[in-house]
Amino acid sequence: MNQSNGDNLIRHEDELRRLDGVKWNRFPSDVLPAWVADMDLAPPSFAVEAVRNLVDRGDFGYNRRAIGLLPEAFSEWQQRYHGWRPAVDETLLFNDVLHAIQVCVWLHSRPGDGVVVLTPIYPPFRSSIAESGRRLVDVALEPEGWRLDPERLADAIDDTTSVLLLCTPHNPTGRVFDDEERQAIGRVVVDNDLMLISDEVWGDVTHPGSVHVPMATVDPAVASRTVTISSASKAFNLAGLRCALAHIGSASLADRFAALPSHFLGEVNSLGAEASLACWTEGHRWLEDTRRFLTDRRDQLKARVDAELPTVGFHQPEATYLAWLDLSAAGLGSDPAALLLDRARIALSSGPDFGENGRGFARLNMATSPQLLDRLVDRLVSVLAEPSR
Ligand SMILES: Cc1ncc(COP(=O)(O)O)c(C=O)c1O
Repeated sequence: MNQSNGDNLIRHEDELRRLDGVKWNRFPSDVLPAWVADMDLAPPSFAVEAVRNLVDRGDFGYNRRAIGLLPEAFSEWQQRYHGWRPAVDETLLFNDVLHAIQVCVWLHSRPGDGVVVLTPIYPPFRSSIAESGRRLVDVALEPEGWRLDPERLADAIDDTTSVLLLCTPHNPTGRVFDDEERQAIGRVVVDNDLMLISDEVWGDVTHPGSVHVPMATVDPAVASRTVTISSASKAFNLAGLRCALAHIGSASLADRFAALPSHFLGEVNSLGAEASLACWTEGHRWLEDTRRFLTDRRDQLKARVDAELPTVGFHQPEATYLAWLDLSAAGLGSDPAALLLDRARIALSSGPDFGENGRGFARLNMATSPQLLDRLVDRLVSVLAEPSR
């Protein structure tokens, strides 16, 4: 049975365990999963309806209806929520966000070139750079508040650096970089003639008081070096439908895309495109409700951590439904998630996968029911209250 949350439906554990998704299937049934970034909410009814329309009609032939409409819907959505009007003819569709990142890094840089990331950082950023034979350049965010130190960023750049791969809002810390930090990033990009790949997939999942500003709006010199990548997948819980989009602000990169063989990138599938289109045209109310729900979960977790987990550090995220927990004083070693899986039977994401400064940390996905979130915290509390072994 579902609990109603305004327009949104929180799925019950029994239903979640019947799904085939990785979140609820990877671990044995006594484990509560809070790792991969899927929400325990039913997908929006308009997205389900968009997919069902194709399924009911058996409309599985070549179908570019939504593919053709998506860049304009995205542009209107960005204009409405983030004050940015990306040009439709500069927008390309990709199967997913990582696909777009991988292709842009590959096209713009050469083997051995440096690609900067701000750590801790979403682990596939690191693997996609390393597997491309590019050099990972880690720039650590300041541990108190996860702010960017502009000097540290500038110092990390040398002649072989060609790309800054940014994630804003930032996974795992939930930071929304402010004007000063955005300007600093923009300056480094322009001064060193870097390409900025800005993964803004979390841009719609902000909490009250925080405003996501696309990097392409910082100034024209930055915009002309920026690729902005987004998808409806995080805000609307559609990750399995595989549909993303990139606005290519850099003319030289656009030329490289234009020179690719015509089938090199493939085409997104019509189910993902139709669902994404429905979200960016009908998703206003759903998103509003969901954001409220997620802020409540964030506040719920914060209140319990503050009251019951004195050894755990938790800087409240300004965006995302991810909690980046500092467990370094909790006596759980450098990879607390591994011990917590064993002792608390909760599955968090391993901090060290996010970079060197992720040691002692774990990421907790808060997008679940209040009851499940409480049970996750109960398990954490009971393990941390145990005398250390
Ligand atoms: C910052 C960021 N980028 C990309 C992705 C993955 O997106 P996709 O599945 O479309 O590659 C995620 C997923 O959580 C993410 O947090």
